Formats: sequence, structure tokens, C-alpha cells
Amino acid sequence: MQSTSQFNQAQFNQAQSNQAQLDHARLRWMTLGASEPSADDGSEIIQGLSQTPKTLPCRYFYDDLGSALFEKICDLPEYYPTRTEQGLLETYAAEVAALTGSCELVELGSGSSRKTRLILDAYSQLDDHLQYCPIDVSAGILKITALDLLDQYPTLRLCGLAGTYEQALAKLPRTTPKNRMLIFLGSTLGNLNDAECHNFLDLIQTALQPGEFFLLGVDLQKPAAILEAAYNDAQGVTAAFNLNILTHLNRRFQGNFDLSKFEHWAFYRADAAAGLSQIEMHLRSLQAQTVSLEALNFEVALEAGETLRTEISRKFHLPTLTEMLENHAIAPLKTWTDPKSWFALLLCQRQCTPGVDCP
Ligand SMILES: C[S@@+](CC[C@H](N)C(=O)[O-])C[C@H]1O[C@@H](n2cnc3c(N)ncnc32)[C@H](O)[C@@H]1O
Repeated sequence: MQSTSQFNQAQFNQAQSNQAQLDHARLRWMTLGASEPSADDGSEIIQGLSQTPKTLPCRYFYDDLGSALFEKICDLPEYYPTRTEQGLLETYAAEVAALTGSCELVELGSGSSRKTRLILDAYSQLDDHLQYCPIDVSAGILKITALDLLDQYPTLRLCGLAGTYEQALAKLPRTTPKNRMLIFLGSTLGNLNDAECHNFLDLIQTALQPGEFFLLGVDLQKPAAILEAAYNDAQGVTAAFNLNILTHLNRRFQGNFDLSKFEHWAFYRADAAAGLSQIEMHLRSLQAQTVSLEALNFEVALEAGETLRTEISRKFHLPTLTEMLENHAIAPLKTWTDPKSWFALLLCQRQCTPGVDCP
């Protein structure tokens, strides 16, 4: 497996040197802190580690190193989602922009915004004063990306929100009378279970006014071998990404997870009766052990072979997804898929809800 310390140090140094530059005329920056809803108090971690099977919230993958490893995953030959979604945006971003007209763009879980640049290019053709608000829980990559985008797009106004989706959507300023388009790429929706997905779509419904837009990229069902290869790459980058969640927890909550006592395990679970079609990533405990998170005053005992589930990545069936979106007054206007139907891009429009916001 490739050494990962180079990503850590490089990302960390860059995030630190960028701190001073956040004072930029076209940048508004908000770090959403402990006073916000869903504060990072560790309660979700305690809850996840106290249930059977044990789970961890996947947003803890994303510290500086986790974000850098995710960028490497995007370039792996086995990891088809990024390049497939990129291909869709290369072909259809201009059509998306033509369908919505000029909009304020808000992206959830933007990371490096690598594919979003295609959307920014398309909307820049319509608007000399484009406004883009990236939201990400991983503040380091958000800062690096914000400064890079301000260089690349000389008239772009950028509003960066470092925090969770819930924190950011609760604080999102409406600074323009233009329509808003929320963007959610990378099939990140697939990381949410059914209940989380419903809560998330409630947030989207609330953050949009009738007539506004939601651009969603999702991974679709396909043969298990293709899916499992994508999460078990030959170079071991996904394994390093999975294990890094423990390093992050150790640092953030004074934990003593020993990474050498865990191994990466990813597999596809398809269960039609239970409505499941998902990759699951786990960390398997290689021995019986007790781990503590001192800052949370919490200990967890693991048996040999027991696993912590760190992520689900649901693989969608378009009619089922459409129904779920429509239950939240979000109707797909147009759906594009690649020639193999591996990935889909949906441009959706917020509908009005009779008795609530219909005229
Ligand atoms: C799977 S990556 C996708 C990145 C990018 N959108 C793409 O398509 O390549 C998920 C991104 O969402 C961010 N993220 C994960 N959970 C989050 C949360 N609860 N709130 C805000 N950002 C989150 C991560 O830091 C990461 O940048």
C-alpha cells in the first residue's frame, strides 16, 4: 500500500498557509461551529458504537488526509463513478444551464469541486456575476478549493461554508433575487440510509422555493463485480481511506484506535426483500480489543472478527429514487445517463406543495 503521510503533510501545510488569504474581496467565509445544530459533540459516535452492528458516521472520513485520499480514489482505474459523472457533465452541463437559466449555485459536499468546474463554466456563459457557495465538513480542502476557484474565475463571488449540510443549510444567506440551484454530486446521497435520506430531502425541500432547482448525481445498480472492484482497489487507496477514519477519531476525540488491529472490508449487499442495494465498507477488528475515546469518556469492546460499518453507498434504481424525490416535492425535469447506464444526473425542480406554498 502506498504511504499516505505525504498527503497529510501537504494538505495540512497548504490549509495553514491559506488561512491568511481568506480575506479576499470576492469571498465570504463561514466556519459553522459548536453553537450550530448537529454540533460535533460525539453523540452520534457513541450511539453508532453502542448499537449492533456497530457503525461510524461516514463524515468522519473527511479530515485533510481523508479528503486527499478521496481525491486519489477519484483517479483510480477501478473507481468509475467520478469519470462517468464527469463525462455526463462534460456533455450536459450547458443543457442544464440552458434549462434553468442564471442561478445562484450552492453545492453540498463539494470537496475539490473538480467536476463542478464544468457547471461553473456553463453558468459563467449566462452570468458575469456568478455566485457559488460550496459547503463541506472538511474545511481544509474547502479553503484550498475556494482560493483556487477565485483565481480560475476572475468574476466569481464565492461563499464558503465549512460545516455539515444541516448547519450550512440553516445558515445559507439569500444574497440574490436569482433562483437557487442546489448541487449534490458524487452519489453522496447514497451514503445516507432511508431515514437519513428523508431528513436530507426535507432540508433540500426547505432550502428551495417552488420553481428552484436541485442537480443530483447518483450511482446506479450494476453487476456486483464492478461495484466491489471499485471499493477494493489494487493500490489499497480505499483501504487507507477507510482506516483513516480511526486516525481522525483518535485526533478529534483523544482515541487510542490502533490501525494495525483493523482491516478494510468492502462488499456489495443486495437484498430485494429488504430494499437494499448497497456497497458496505467496514473495518474488521483483527483481535478482541477495547478502545477508548477519552474526550467522550467512552469505551467500546470489540470481539475478534467484529466489524465497524463506516459507510454505505447505495446503488439507485431510478423509478424508486424518483418516487422518493417526488415525496419531497422535488420532481425530476430531465435525467441523463451514460451509455452503460452506470450513473445518472438528474435536474430536478422544487414543486409547490398544495396548502403550504402553492399560490
Ligand atoms: C463522496 S465525497 C464527494 C465529493 C465531490 N462532491 C465529488 O463528487 O467528487 C463527499 C464530500 O462530502 C463531504 N461531506 C461528507 N459528509 C458531509 C456532511 N455531513 N456535511 C457536509 N459535508 C459532508 C466530504 O467532506 C466530501 O468532500
